[in-house]
Amino acid sequence: MPAATVIAIDGPAGTGKSSVSKLLAQRVGAEYLDTGAMYRAATLAVLRAGVPVDDADAMAAVVADAVIALDDSDGATVVLLDGEDVSTAVREAEVTANVSAVSAHPDVRAKLVELQRAVARGRYVVVEGRDIGTVVFPDAALKVFLTASPQARAQRRLRQDTAAGRDTDFDTVLASVNRRDHLDSTRAASPLRPADDAVLFDTSELTLPQVLDGLITLAEKRIGVS
Ligand code: DC
Repeated sequence: MPAATVIAIDGPAGTGKSSVSKLLAQRVGAEYLDTGAMYRAATLAVLRAGVPVDDADAMAAVVADAVIALDDSDGATVVLLDGEDVSTAVREAEVTANVSAVSAHPDVRAKLVELQRAVARGRYVVVEGRDIGTVVFPDAALKVFLTASPQARAQRRLRQDTAAGRDTDFDTVLASVNRRDHLDSTRAASPLRPADDAVLFDTSELTLPQVLDGLITLAEKRIGVS
């Protein structure tokens, strides 16, 4: 199998990563892989099993047995856990509150990184996550690390939550964003950080079309696609 051609989009929550990664994939004719959705599915499996997230061994055992898959055949990503469509369930607040603890476990990461590499093999794919440029695809053709101020990120998350009918407010979202980023950045296994050769891109003051334009320009330069 030929190696994958990967555009790696990393960064914390609320930088506009998912929206722009999906659009970028469409524009450059690539596939799209949402690795955060896989960690969310693993977290849902742990919660459904009733295992406390601080019981590392029990948690890893649940994830080892879980069948996690993403189905993009209808255009939008459907998240599957043991064959069940859990696309909505993985966005619930309880999953969001526990996903950093589950994704900090090295065995959980090892399983999902292997799955991510297998899914991408031989493909041209935009992969979004936290450790794509540093760990999963260190040879990615283009690595981008999106950043934005905590306020801008919380504002975006609040808009998404409100649009999805989740009941919350700015201060709650800001606290949740800050807590998750702190946990994701300070964990021992594959912490959230830019790869040395990543392009840093601050999206605080930019609209989605502006960020997309910037990424398309980078992709044209690095990979020669438009
Ligand atoms: O992108 P997201 O908010 O759906 O990601 C959910 C969580 O999954 C995030 O808080 C950290 C974890 N994650 C990770 O550890 N590594 C990745 N490559 C993607 C996500």
